[in-house]
Amino acid sequence: MALNPSQKRVLAVIGVGPGIGEAVSRHFAEKGFYVALIARTEDRLRQIQDSINEANGNPSARYYVTDVRDETQVINTFAAIKKDLGPVHVLIYNAGSRRLRPRTILETPTEEFESFVRINMFGALFAAKCVLPDMVAVGEGTILFTGATASIRGSPGLGGFSPGKFGLRALSQMITREFQGKGIHAAHVIVDGPVQSDIIGGFVKSRWEKAGETEKLKEMDRYLMQPKDLAGIYWYLYTQPRSTWTQELDVRAEREQMFSKL
Ligand SMILES: NC(=O)c1ccc[n+]([C@@H]2O[C@H](COP(=O)([O-])OP(=O)(O)OC[C@H]3O[C@@H](n4cnc5c(N)ncnc54)[C@H](OP(=O)(O)O)[C@@H]3O)[C@@H](O)[C@H]2O)c1
Repeated sequence: MALNPSQKRVLAVIGVGPGIGEAVSRHFAEKGFYVALIARTEDRLRQIQDSINEANGNPSARYYVTDVRDETQVINTFAAIKKDLGPVHVLIYNAGSRRLRPRTILETPTEEFESFVRINMFGALFAAKCVLPDMVAVGEGTILFTGATASIRGSPGLGGFSPGKFGLRALSQMITREFQGKGIHAAHVIVDGPVQSDIIGGFVKSRWEKAGETEKLKEMDRYLMQPKDLAGIYWYLYTQPRSTWTQELDVRAEREQMFSKL
């Protein structure tokens, strides 16, 4: 806890990139949390860490380079977070990965399938095993999982994405069943459509630019979920009173087609 002398509550975000990961980290830091930022790309993590610390005028973020596919790395990272900042009060499992160019399962090498499932699901199990004992010891804690349309729809061409996201959803339900009575709130967010961030949102945006879809470009928030608005949803889940805990919540932009539901 040496680096968190004022004993701020600790949020660990796994999967911090420029989209949802950065937005939730920033939001919780503004609300007084110390945020452990976890991903693989050190330059980007350092930039996000520095920017959050600068915005808050005091140390509120620290990064930990980790590949969540590797359980030993996850265990070492959570041991370091506990030593530096203290026990984790909120865990957000946001790491996710998928192919941009679809491949059928016959074209998908088994190693690639396994790698995606490790990111989309196994990392969440590894991390939950690290934080649950401390949460149970104090009788409170929150674990939020980022899902996708693929959490409840087997999407063609995305080997390893839907299977991993389905499994992540099941894990969130199991954690709820096993630990809710011990004060732990676990919730799964189905992000049902594209988010305006670098990769998927950027891909959709450049398609619109090429097609001259100026209306869509003018009102992006009608079509693409905004990371800062999603961050507000995660905060809402975290702050729910214990008499009314949500286990699963689905969100989409106004003009999205409700793929996950209808
Ligand atoms: N973007 C969308 O349109 C969209 C739509 C529906 C659902 N989602 C879900 O929302 C979540 C966040 O998506 P986002 O696009 O907003 O991304 P983001 O929060 O900007 O970043 C997520 C980060 O996860 C990290 N990650 C991937 N593999 C990892 C690994 N093996 N170990 C550690 N970190 C890893 C990546 O960073 P490194 O490469 O540096 O490790 C990536 O930047 C994902 O779970 C995604 O499936 C996104």
